[in-house]
Amino acid sequence: MNFYTLSLFPDMIDGCFNTSITGRAAEKGIISLTNINIRDFSNDKHLKVDDYPYGGGAGLVMRGDCVYGAYRHAKELISQRQGDIAAGWTRVVYMTPRGEAFNHKKAVELAKEENLIILCGHYEGIDERVLEEIVTDNISIGDYVITGGEIAAVVVMDAVSRMVPEVLGNSDSAGGDSFADGLLEYPQYTRPEVFHGKKVPGVLLSGHHANVDKWRLEKSVELTKKVRPDLYERYLEARGDS
Ligand code: ADE
Repeated sequence: MNFYTLSLFPDMIDGCFNTSITGRAAEKGIISLTNINIRDFSNDKHLKVDDYPYGGGAGLVMRGDCVYGAYRHAKELISQRQGDIAAGWTRVVYMTPRGEAFNHKKAVELAKEENLIILCGHYEGIDERVLEEIVTDNISIGDYVITGGEIAAVVVMDAVSRMVPEVLGNSDSAGGDSFADGLLEYPQYTRPEVFHGKKVPGVLLSGHHANVDKWRLEKSVELTKKVRPDLYERYLEARGDS
């Protein structure tokens, strides 16, 4: 998986991506990141990338020409590295609170792509005309607004990377992940056996794998029902229980 980010603040993305599990996967060449700075595509002598919104209102809007220049550059890099067909196929994900809600299913879907271009906005958004021309997926990481798309892009890149084969070693396995089976993950324990007077649940010390699995499923169901009734309902529907 090769990520190409179009952003005004590439350092915000670099630091996270090149750390921990994604950093290790990048070192091994399983995933890669190419940051493209939208400001490098400004024709303005002061390198301005934004302008006043038509119709008035607060804030500034990112100009279409700068964003389009950065997008063309990403496409050219993909063409050079993998050919025109790969470049032609590449999806362009725009991080925006106006997008579809990001979830585990979308992470699995995007992880099947060879390349992804991720566009990060700032200010009051980006000129709609360039978005109409280049964006294939509008994605939101939740019903709140953050100051720019970079942090949202890092969230998506991390979740997608985890679903790319070989990014997670055995020790970081995605198997019991929350959401993998539509349920939140069961509680985990490690040594010591007694912590602040609390004992590890006995079944986890029993060595009886079937009982451990049963206990974990029960805990997952209990937790999901309590904190995410929406997910619990979907889980029941999928099992034909409701
Ligand atoms: N940019 C600002 N807020 C965002 C959100 N909630 N999701 C994705 N991108 C954003």
